[in-house]
Amino acid sequence: QSKETKWMMDAHLLLHKFYHHLLLNTKEGQEAYDYVTGRGFTDETLKKFGVGYALNSWDFALKFLTKRGYNQQLLEKAGLLIEKEHTAEYFDRFRNRIMFPIHDHKGNVIAFSGRVLGEGEPKYLNSPETPLFNKSKILYNFHQARPHIRKQEQVILFEGFADVIAADGAGLPNGIATMGTSLTEDQARIIRRHVENVTICYDGDNAGIEAAYRAANILIQQGCYVRIAMMPDKMDPDDYIRSKGSDSFKQDVIGASLTFMAFKLRYLRKGRNMKDEGERMRYVEDVLKEISMLTKAVERDHYLRQLADEFSISLDALKQQQFQVYKSLM
Ligand code: UTP
Ligand code: MN
Ligand code: MN
Ligand code: MN
Ligand code: MN
Repeated sequence: QSKETKWMMDAHLLLHKFYHHLLLNTKEGQEAYDYVTGRGFTDETLKKFGVGYALNSWDFALKFLTKRGYNQQLLEKAGLLIEKEHTAEYFDRFRNRIMFPIHDHKGNVIAFSGRVLGEGEPKYLNSPETPLFNKSKILYNFHQARPHIRKQEQVILFEGFADVIAADGAGLPNGIATMGTSLTEDQARIIRRHVENVTICYDGDNAGIEAAYRAANILIQQGCYVRIAMMPDKMDPDDYIRSKGSDSFKQDVIGASLTFMAFKLRYLRKGRNMKDEGERMRYVEDVLKEISMLTKAVERDHYLRQLADEFSISLDALKQQQFQVYKSLM
């Protein structure tokens, strides 16, 4: 670890502590505190996740850190300050936002994501890529979730910070998230090094469903067993926990998760009129395609039988047709 890296981490830690103090203990942080408590975050949760508040100021972080001996170019390189176009004048990147510290997997604060209070663009402002922060290799909350992931032999992958935090409050401390980007191979590899069973619980909108599909494929490639917990009615996990409660979330969402194949079957069925024979046959063909791509013979056999039963088609006919599909995919 270079001297520069250490400085940058120290600057993050100092600032993180001050943001956290501002949110919990000050008049300046009152409106932000009301916002987060209004969203259901308790003090215990705010402390566990180190949530903070960045003042509505152009130079708060700048003064706070330069007074403590940090130089401005370094702070710019760390993503905390922004340079006014080639003027060597700097200002704070994060202003008037709820601050979520992002930790590396050892627990060092290496970046921030700042949420607007209420509506506004961008909703979350993130630290840029820096010598400390490589977005594609970091998983949010991994440092705190790791012992729970090991013990429960299970990890839950969420889409957003708020979902991880709400799930923790609901008694599920083994949640992690990517940061606004789709899951990368590196992240999947890190997950697989610690655990085999992954439950993906993304938002119930189309973007979430599609991202879940992509993430599942990447995780399977790395050798994970994937289940998908579906959210009803375009809700996200945080919305769900707030409106229906922790028990329902654990039982009816996480507890009712589907295997990836069952998820795909439901996905393929969506918007199709299964009373129409043509559509039904197209569905069967799509399912056969999915079955052909399974690598385990036992699984292929299982889903072929299931399909045969459901549509009263003979298993032989399905197998023949599947052979055709298989050839056409080669
Ligand atoms: P969502 O739009 O689903 O946000 O984006 P959310 O987590 O439900 O946030 P709340 O509940 O409105 O506060 C999911 C994730 O995408 C990233 C963030 O990591 C967020 O948690 N994101 C989203 C950004 O990085 N920037 C944005 O402007 C929006
Ligand atoms: Mn901390
Ligand atoms: Mn979303
Ligand atoms: Mn969401
Ligand atoms: Mn949300």
